[in-house]
Amino acid sequence: MCGIVGYIGTRSAVPVVLNGLRRLEYRGYDSAGVALLHEGQITVVKRAGKIAELEAALRTSIPECTVAIGHTRWATHGQPNESNAHPHMDCRNEIAVVHNGVIENYAALKRKLHDAGHVFRSETDTEVLAHLIEQFYVRDTNLEQAVRRALTQIKGTYGLVVVAAREPDKLVVARNGSPLAIGIGDNEHIVASDASAIVEHTRRVTYLEDGEMAVVTCGSFSISTLADVPVENFVQELTLNLQEIERGEYEHFMLKEIHEQPDTIRNAMRGRLIVEKDEVKLGGLDHVRDTVLGAKRIVIVGCGTSWHAALVGEYLMEQIAGVPVEVEYSSEFRYRHPIIGSGDILFAISQSGETADTLAAMREAKVKGATVLGIVNVVGSTVARESQGGVYIHAGPEIGVASTKAFTSQLTVLALITLMIARAKGVSREKLSLLVRELHELPEKVEQVLRTSDRIKEIAQKYKGATNFLYLGRGANFPVALEGALKLKEISYIHAEGYPAAEMKHGPIALIDEQMPVVVIAPKDAIYEKVISNIQEVRARKGRVIAIANEDDHEIEHLAEDIVRVPRTYGFFGPIINVIPLQLLAYYIAVARGVNVDQPRNLAKSVSVE
Ligand code: G6P
Repeated sequence: MCGIVGYIGTRSAVPVVLNGLRRLEYRGYDSAGVALLHEGQITVVKRAGKIAELEAALRTSIPECTVAIGHTRWATHGQPNESNAHPHMDCRNEIAVVHNGVIENYAALKRKLHDAGHVFRSETDTEVLAHLIEQFYVRDTNLEQAVRRALTQIKGTYGLVVVAAREPDKLVVARNGSPLAIGIGDNEHIVASDASAIVEHTRRVTYLEDGEMAVVTCGSFSISTLADVPVENFVQELTLNLQEIERGEYEHFMLKEIHEQPDTIRNAMRGRLIVEKDEVKLGGLDHVRDTVLGAKRIVIVGCGTSWHAALVGEYLMEQIAGVPVEVEYSSEFRYRHPIIGSGDILFAISQSGETADTLAAMREAKVKGATVLGIVNVVGSTVARESQGGVYIHAGPEIGVASTKAFTSQLTVLALITLMIARAKGVSREKLSLLVRELHELPEKVEQVLRTSDRIKEIAQKYKGATNFLYLGRGANFPVALEGALKLKEISYIHAEGYPAAEMKHGPIALIDEQMPVVVIAPKDAIYEKVISNIQEVRARKGRVIAIANEDDHEIEHLAEDIVRVPRTYGFFGPIINVIPLQLLAYYIAVARGVNVDQPRNLAKSVSVE
């Protein structure tokens, strides 16, 4: 979602800020803007649309400056137009604010400020902040005092940066629920909502905690609580590599990330799957191991692709480890007054670790006494910090909005957790050994699937004009059907639905005609024959079947119009392999339709509002 970058130092600030904003483009946004300080004045330039538009506007007559703040906005309050774009200013154009998060009590504050004579120029919640700070920014007060006082009146979440014309030598930053990092350079500081905007300038960073603010100048910074108690800063080295957040030879991040999967799956297993001992070691669960093994049931929550991973997790844990599992959308969990308590485990799955609904579900479960654990990609993210234990998926930064490598790594980690529980519960050594071997061989099998890319590209060309797609799968491949349909929707804007194959006859079958491509995940497993019957039903109505089938399956040749071959694996690990062709199919169709694959319209990478 929204992104923040601020610079104070000795270099030209605008290029640094623009470059930083570009690094944050992947988060999803619909307008962008900067404020720069020059000779005691603030100049704000904003544009609806992409950063390129903003950059073009900045090319004309912008003064040289060494302090600037910038923002990419993903609209919540008010349309994605120029006036709603950040930065927002006070009445006198002396204060500029960029903000991520949501000010929940903005309407009441706006009324009060309006009655006090403030004139608003946007529909946003953020503008309230600028006017509220103005209200407190009276003679003999400095900017940090005014910001501090304003924030005590705010209900909601924020990561924010404020500058004032009167005090051009500082940025004031604050955090509550929206990440904010300070990058420490040589006589310069770069503040940002995401380390990827900082890493090319410095590897030394400090992160604000909730309820903290900081005054940042060229040569120093000081952190304090909102109550003005000084906080000692903890400087960390970024482990992020610039190469990881660059596209390299690939046309899109999504394609790069699809191709990284053999490695990312290996990384998720590295040091954890001890093949020679048929053992799984998960350091992040050591201290809660007994609680996990003794759990009456496990609840898994997530959103989007992470929710699909959770659904596969349900099959893995129930079928292999014999533990009852429930899966719930994070956004629904809290509002159904869940019956959960001590003795239950809640696993929160989140790539970004910042999804607001998932955080809310975790907090609810914690209050009710459950043990809350995370399966997260972003190290140090809020989900990771608020979990009582968990497992990082170690997929590296995922930049493409449509999640790919995070999904297969989430599944790998769920498989590892399952094996850990299964072993402790006394699953036979023979079976365990088979599962460990199958898991260990997955990265190579994924490599094999990636080698069929050209075939998938041809299929994509053939079906790129379709207006609807149906995806069918059974068992653990039903969530894969959902994920395949989601990928296609997200990046190609073709309407697609995922269904359990047998359920098709209870509704979607009415849609099938000679125009309808139906992607069927049909591995040779225990329910293969049933899936074949479902394919027959599609064919009988002239639907066009694209099958994801095993290499040794010849029967399918008579039934499917197009086939993508995938290697066999143990049934419940199949989703890790079978999803790869669906990711590639969505990717190539989207490219063929000319869609901006890495930044599809309206979507955000990390959804930090409920
Ligand atoms: C957004 C993203 C999806 C992602 C979902 C959950 O909708 O566009 O790709 O699956 O959020 O995100 P999380 O970071 O919690 O996995």
